[in-house]
Amino acid sequence: MIKKNLDHSEWVTASKPTGGIAGNKNLRKKIAWAITGSGHFLEESLSICSQFESVDIYLSSAAEEVLPIYGYSLQSMRKKNKVFRDKTTSSVPVGMLYDNHYHTVVIAPATSNTVAKCAFGISDSLPTNMFAQAGKLGILTIIFACDTEPVVITKAPKEWVELKPRQIELNNVKKLEKFPFCKVVKSPSKLEAALRNRLKNPGIF
Ligand SMILES: Cc1cc2nc3c(=O)[nH]c(=O)nc-3n(C[C@H](O)[C@H](O)[C@H](O)COP(=O)(O)O)c2cc1C
Repeated sequence: MIKKNLDHSEWVTASKPTGGIAGNKNLRKKIAWAITGSGHFLEESLSICSQFESVDIYLSSAAEEVLPIYGYSLQSMRKKNKVFRDKTTSSVPVGMLYDNHYHTVVIAPATSNTVAKCAFGISDSLPTNMFAQAGKLGILTIIFACDTEPVVITKAPKEWVELKPRQIELNNVKKLEKFPFCKVVKSPSKLEAALRNRLKNPGIF
C-alpha cells in the first residue's frame, strides 16, 4: 500500500525495511567477485579467487571479452562459481547485495577505467554498480587496482609489455583509498592477505 502525505523520516519509520542494511547481516556468507577487462594481474587474481569457496562472479562486458583472449572460458568458471554477466543497463544482478548473500565484494583485477569510475561515483557497469551499492549498504569492497606504480610490466595477449600509468590513474587510486567500506590493494599477495583477514572477521572493518 502506498503511504501518502508522510515526510521522509515518517516514511522511513512506516516502511519498516526488512532487507539490505535492515536485514540479517549474519546471513552474509559469500564473496561477490567482480572481474573487469584487465589482462594485467588477471591470471594471479583468478588463481587467488579459485582458492576460496562460496564465491559468485560478476563480469564487466569488457571482462567477458578479455577472458577468452587470455584462455579462460565462462563454461569452465561455471563449474565452480555462479557467474553473472553484464547484460542489463540497470545492473539487475546487483539486487543480490540486498538479499544479504555477501559479506565482501572483491574487484580483481580492476582496470584503470573501473578504478576511475568508482573514484568518481560513476556506476554504469556491473562491477561499478557492485561497488556503489556495497558502499551504500556498508559492505566492504576489496579492490585490486593494477595501475599503481609509475612503471608496470604487464602481460599482453602475446607478450610482456612495459607501461607507464599516467598521473591521473595514480591520482584515482589515491582518491579511492579514502572511501569508507573500501580497501585498495596493490599486489596479488596483498589481495590474498586482505581476503584471508576478512574471512577471519567478516563483520568488522
Ligand atoms: C587484451 C586486453 C587487455 C587489457 N588489459 C587492460 C589492463 O591490463 N588494464 C586496463 O586498465 N585496461 C585493460 N584493457 C582495456 C579495458 O578492457 C577497457 O578499458 C575496458 O573499457 C574496461 O572496461 P571495464 O572497466 O568495465 O572492465 C585491456 C583490453 C584488452 C582487449
